[in-house]
Amino acid sequence: MKRIYNDINLASRNSFGVSERARCIVEFEDANDLKEVFSANRSDKWYVLGAGNNTLFTQFYDGVIFTPTCSSLEILQDDGQGVDIRVAAAYDWDTLVEWSVIRGLWGIENLSAIPSSVGAAPVQNIGAYGAEVKDVIKAVEYFDTNKLEVVRLSNKECRFAYRDSIFKQELRGVAIILAVEMHLSREPRPNLGYGDVVKEVESRGGATLKNIREAICAIRGRKLPDPKVLGNAGSFFKNPIVELEVAERLLQEYPDMPKYAMPNDDSHVKLAAGWLIDKAGLKGWRDGNVGVHENQALVLVNYGGATGREVIALAEYVSQCVKDRFGVVISPEVNLL
Ligand code: EPU
Repeated sequence: MKRIYNDINLASRNSFGVSERARCIVEFEDANDLKEVFSANRSDKWYVLGAGNNTLFTQFYDGVIFTPTCSSLEILQDDGQGVDIRVAAAYDWDTLVEWSVIRGLWGIENLSAIPSSVGAAPVQNIGAYGAEVKDVIKAVEYFDTNKLEVVRLSNKECRFAYRDSIFKQELRGVAIILAVEMHLSREPRPNLGYGDVVKEVESRGGATLKNIREAICAIRGRKLPDPKVLGNAGSFFKNPIVELEVAERLLQEYPDMPKYAMPNDDSHVKLAAGWLIDKAGLKGWRDGNVGVHENQALVLVNYGGATGREVIALAEYVSQCVKDRFGVVISPEVNLL
């Protein structure tokens, strides 16, 4: 069953805590609810808002916002080595990680404490500490708003890449995700290669699922502000992918600059936007109600009462400083509306 709200304040529905309004919100449970809405009216502008952790509203949204409410979790198959699960879009991501860790299921422990709903996770292929959600996804089920039917895409068909998928490209404005099917394994597969993870895990007594989850939560807790305390959307910018020559030029001047190899692509490297912003002298920079977080320069924060436009103005200033200093363009990871 669906619920419809008109002219609604979005402050409690976005982690930036900005106080913009929308013309209409439809909370839907399943494909039938969506079919009813789209059969009656296909011309309205619309957007899907999960838990609101990766969206910045910069003005009145003159359209319909769809929010899923179904949060079921089913075990589709258990062959002893691992399980296939189907999780509905509204299920809280970190509750799923906790569920898997308690049951001895490997695959998503490095993605602990990412604020997200399950339905939003494949859209930008959430990732952290050397893991990405694409590594466990078997299929994604969505409602096609053109065909008015449910479609199931295999992992390959989702065209996952760094913070990207078909849902941000061709299926933007077409697909509303209903559920995600994932495979989790009982075989221990610790993935400790990133940054401080190995040290934090060792200090807790070794690579158990529980220790890895605790280590990741501790690392994130130290660097990333809690949106309940300080409005933010995690990394505001994507890490830029640049030509190898650009990175080599910068490395001559900044030999300590972090860089990451791109899988199957020797001619490009990924740089750390947080490092570039930090090195440009902007970490902890504050302008009125908004600022660059003091522990992680990749995160922009709302100190209270900020509008979306203030955040955008800060983001533009930060991008310009990075471009002036390094000649590298950084672009937002967050969806801007
Ligand atoms: N760095 C600085 N100063 C800063 C921030 C970072 O010098 O203020 C340096 C770090 O020392 C490190 C490098 O930049 O050498 C990378 O920093 P970090 O490991 O903190 O990761 P990140 O590149 O800033 C990415 C993801 C995060 C994810 C972490 C850990 C993106 C856009 N962000 O951040 O994801 O948690 O790696 O894997 O890819 C998110 O998407 O919201 C998010 C938090």
